[in-house]
Amino acid sequence: MKGIVLAGGYGTRLYPATFAISKQLLPVYDKPMIYYPISVLMLAGIKDILIISTPNDMPCFQKLLKDGSQFGVKFSYQIQPEPKGIAQAFILGRDFIGNDSVALILGDNIFYGQAFSAMLKRAAHSADNGFSTIFAYPVKDPERFGVIEFDENKKVLSIEEKPAKPKSNYAVTGLYFYDNNVSEYAGTLKMSSRGELEITDLNKIYLNKSRLKVEVFGRGFAWLDTGTHKSLMQAGQYVQTIEENQGIKIACLEEVAYRMGFLSRSDAIKSSQLYNNNEYFEYVRELK
Ligand code: G1P
Repeated sequence: MKGIVLAGGYGTRLYPATFAISKQLLPVYDKPMIYYPISVLMLAGIKDILIISTPNDMPCFQKLLKDGSQFGVKFSYQIQPEPKGIAQAFILGRDFIGNDSVALILGDNIFYGQAFSAMLKRAAHSADNGFSTIFAYPVKDPERFGVIEFDENKKVLSIEEKPAKPKSNYAVTGLYFYDNNVSEYAGTLKMSSRGELEITDLNKIYLNKSRLKVEVFGRGFAWLDTGTHKSLMQAGQYVQTIEENQGIKIACLEEVAYRMGFLSRSDAIKSSQLYNNNEYFEYVRELK
């Protein structure tokens, strides 16, 4: 299975903070934002990852992430000349995907909570067997998102993109698993009124074919927004709180690589030596 991180866009809502640097490279507490979505793909067992970003920002992502061997994975890079919607990733990434299934995660989405790895494994298994999986999260402002309507048995009835009158409070999060048909289906999509190839339209294709599964996050789970100064700050404080209380790190890629068996413990330590014996390095060195 392949993985894609979509880290494009101009981040205009965060100007001037993002005027000279990609939003997905801003820190969320102690590491760059893009570490969080990369960790999700790695936890799904994915080692072959495509980073999609703008022509301006790409050199910085390459400087940060290199070829991926320091995390036991392989990064490839694909420029998105202009942001034309999330589903465009599957057209840009067609050659990269090849004959595989694929997971896509938005570069500014932060997921954290128990039992997540099991959900990811289920989604990866389903994608290898012809199904897509999307993830629903209850929110107080569903009109800002794709919205899923369920019947009483949690069967999906509809998905609507930013509906004026949401049929539920379940938002579609920025994590999607698909089988190998995804690039072909994405190629059939028409631009929406906002000039985008909508991921919701793609999900509707799977829904209409009865090939769409939904995993629903419970109330103990964190799906954090980083789209405004306030929410970015709150996400950082959330990560800080958990890390300080439990003495762990969220989305420490050297640790994830070690726990997933992508790197030996000594190679994980070697990778973090780059950080000049700082606190991050100390953490990796002390991993059991
Ligand atoms: C996009 C999708 C939407 C989804 C959201 C998750 O919204 O179109 O369906 O709920 O990501 O973050 P956008 O970021 O384009 O507003």
